[in-house]
Amino acid sequence: MAESKKHLLLVEDETPLREALAERLAEQGFDVTQADSGEQAIEQLAEFAFDIVITDLRLPGLDGTRVLEAALLRYPDIVGIIVTGYGTVKDAVEAIKRGATDFVTKPFQFDELLHALNSALEKRRLKAENAYLRSQLQERYKFDGLIGRSPAMRALFQLLETVSSSASTILVTGETGTGKEVVARAIHHNSPRRAQRFVALNCGAIPETLLEAELFGHVRGAFTGAIGTRQGRLEQAHKGTLFMDEVGTMSPGMQMKLLRVLQEREFERIGDTHTTRVDVRVVAATNSDLHRMVSEGTFREDLFYRLNIIPIHLPPLRERKEDIPLLVQHFLKKFSVPEQPAAASRQSHSRGSEPDSRVLSMSQQAMRCLMAYAWPGNVRQLENAIERAVALSGGRMQIETSDLTADIQQASNGAAAPDVNLPEGGIDFERYINRIEHDLIRRALEKTGGNKGQASKLLNLKRTTLVEKLKRLEPRASP
Ligand SMILES: Nc1ncnc2c1ncn2[C@@H]1O[C@H](COP(=O)(O)OP(=O)(O)OP(=O)(O)O)[C@@H](O)[C@H]1O
Ligand SMILES: [Mg+2]
Repeated sequence: MAESKKHLLLVEDETPLREALAERLAEQGFDVTQADSGEQAIEQLAEFAFDIVITDLRLPGLDGTRVLEAALLRYPDIVGIIVTGYGTVKDAVEAIKRGATDFVTKPFQFDELLHALNSALEKRRLKAENAYLRSQLQERYKFDGLIGRSPAMRALFQLLETVSSSASTILVTGETGTGKEVVARAIHHNSPRRAQRFVALNCGAIPETLLEAELFGHVRGAFTGAIGTRQGRLEQAHKGTLFMDEVGTMSPGMQMKLLRVLQEREFERIGDTHTTRVDVRVVAATNSDLHRMVSEGTFREDLFYRLNIIPIHLPPLRERKEDIPLLVQHFLKKFSVPEQPAAASRQSHSRGSEPDSRVLSMSQQAMRCLMAYAWPGNVRQLENAIERAVALSGGRMQIETSDLTADIQQASNGAAAPDVNLPEGGIDFERYINRIEHDLIRRALEKTGGNKGQASKLLNLKRTTLVEKLKRLEPRASP
């Protein structure tokens, strides 16, 4: 352990177990205080600010949940670890929900407890560091290939900066195309593991039986067709990062096997009698709602907590529209580079500002459509839309609305109503709508210097419709 000694309160009523644990924890550099009952633990917590409390769940008198409650009440940042018997895992999970950091199930190896303890301490360190960084109000719009300026993305960049340095398991959630895989890669590339492999495994794309072989590998003759021994993705990712995509699709059997790997960092290749140990950092991703799956019983709750050590959520693009112009610019640059001889093309792609590269721009009206559209496929869909528009733009230097697909073109027409306050007394609907129409027409006329033809184009109206509306609206608008 790097910093000063951590003070640890160990609560366990079985004296031989408690004393043995205390001794081994002390060997690991912890300053250990022992308590043999919940009552005693609570007294000790009142007197001293411990960094860590490890408590048995079942105690005579006040139980571990109460000890934890008392600890968290006094020290919200305390690391709390629950030790639980086989039958009481549910209660331990409950304790996690109330603020415990982790739990171990009896009987356990000391290493297991130590692993839980160290990752819990790491998690707390990251939390503190992240809070500090956030307070520094750093301004950055980029993090390793990720672009964004919305508050959500800026907070994400800071979080990535801190979590990349750790080895804790990360769960990335978000709708399709929000950038979960980019995030996973960015974490790897900014971690101390960057020189080792980033191995990706899409759990959703592989049938269950194959998935097991993919993950764990197999020995020769393990099943029909297993001609030789083959390393699984876990071994390939040794000392590196394993990206497990679409974890929500795993069968109950695979979930159990993955749980074991996460807890013990060991597994057997299929057909092997030897146990293989690995050092992998797992980054998992899903676009399903694991919370709901847990409550419906289709995803193991204990696995969820093991994966969700550091949760990272990517909000959908429609909830961070201020990122759209920046992303558009980024993709325009990416797709504007003219075709070049194969050897040079890769280089010029990243430089982008070659003297002869022509970077297209986006017309304001097209940009309005892009901002108004709901992007169900998120950034991936935006990227595809820009690529298509660039291809369709021919020799023009500017992308027009007509280069966009019909549904995107229509978006700005069907844009949501401006933020309307609905007072208790209600509003006059007809008048309100008329005012909006009038306002839009007035702005279009202003912009075109009073030219009705051009104004009607801006509004995508027939000229005659605009003139008619003007006639209808003017008498109302003047009083
Ligand atoms: N913030 C971002 N900045 C730049 N590019 C991004 C960003 N987010 C996503 N992208 C791009 O969008 C595309 C989709 O990203 P990615 O594959 O990571 O999505 P995903 O969340 O894994 O989607 P799915 O759930 O469908 O697998 C990629 O081409 C990626 O480069
Ligand atoms: Mg993905």
